[in-house]
Amino acid sequence: MAELRPRRSCLAVPGSNLRFLEKAKALPADQVFLDLEDACAPLAKSGARKNIVAALNEGGWGERIRVVRVNDWTTEWTYRDVVEVVEGAGANLDAIMLPKVADAAQVRALDMLLLQIEKTIGLEQGRIGIEAQIETAQGLINVNEIAFASARIETIIFGPADFMANINMKSLVVGALHPDYPADPFHYILMQILMAARARGVQAIDGPFLQVRDVEAFREVAKRSAMLGFDGKWVLHPGQIDAANEIYAPSQEDYEHAELILDAYEWATSEAGGKKGSAMLGEEMIDEASRKMALVVAAKGRAAGLSRRELFTPPES
Ligand code: GLV
Ligand code: MG
Repeated sequence: MAELRPRRSCLAVPGSNLRFLEKAKALPADQVFLDLEDACAPLAKSGARKNIVAALNEGGWGERIRVVRVNDWTTEWTYRDVVEVVEGAGANLDAIMLPKVADAAQVRALDMLLLQIEKTIGLEQGRIGIEAQIETAQGLINVNEIAFASARIETIIFGPADFMANINMKSLVVGALHPDYPADPFHYILMQILMAARARGVQAIDGPFLQVRDVEAFREVAKRSAMLGFDGKWVLHPGQIDAANEIYAPSQEDYEHAELILDAYEWATSEAGGKKGSAMLGEEMIDEASRKMALVVAAKGRAAGLSRRELFTPPES
């Protein structure tokens, strides 16, 4: 599969909000997703489909990944969401986000519907991706099968608000730590999602933080999932975008270090470097596993536009 473009910040834009649909084109989010689900009132959904088709076809989204979130399969809206949006603007759309995914069959159903539309209107088959939101206990226990249900899967996303409601979690502050619990109540869920995403080789995305004016609290929540290995997080407000772009990219220091490890290890394993499988880089011992860790950090840093200030020079022998 082609390398997936990074999605450090995924901006939610209600399909019914024309002003925000226009404004989003100028915001520095890696991804925008135009929402037909929970940010769109039932009576506004039909109009929102039309707004979204027009906004996608109008263009102006630059490098941003263009996603539409449809309604989940238990509603009466899903098939029309997909048909109207993909028939109307399929060539200008990168992925469909499917919320509240319960099992692999729901992903396969979307895959088949997309294929039918692609065949009917002559779009490239299989190009439109699927983003699967895990928002229920049932979705979580099936997350491994969900991750492998279709070649179109590009991300597995945690939906903390619906998830908290679904499992009766005793807090209303989405994604945050709680004084009555001495650890991170979301750790288990995040790790399950991350394992499924990594086993499948797709991105793991953290969900929204609703206290949109409190950017410091957003940073705290985001740092925890970034530390585990998550690739990005939803942003609901322009103020959260820069924080997400920074937190889900490596720091300049970690990036430089990763590039140095790659160069130093390549040299150490070469003829000139003595064909060594492990070597010292300053005070640190590096080996093949260090190279693998460094590859991940370096790739994320390059994708985030970081550049090197320090170059490797082989030690004098
Ligand atoms: C997002 O959809 C959430 O429920 O948190
Ligand atoms: Mg939700």
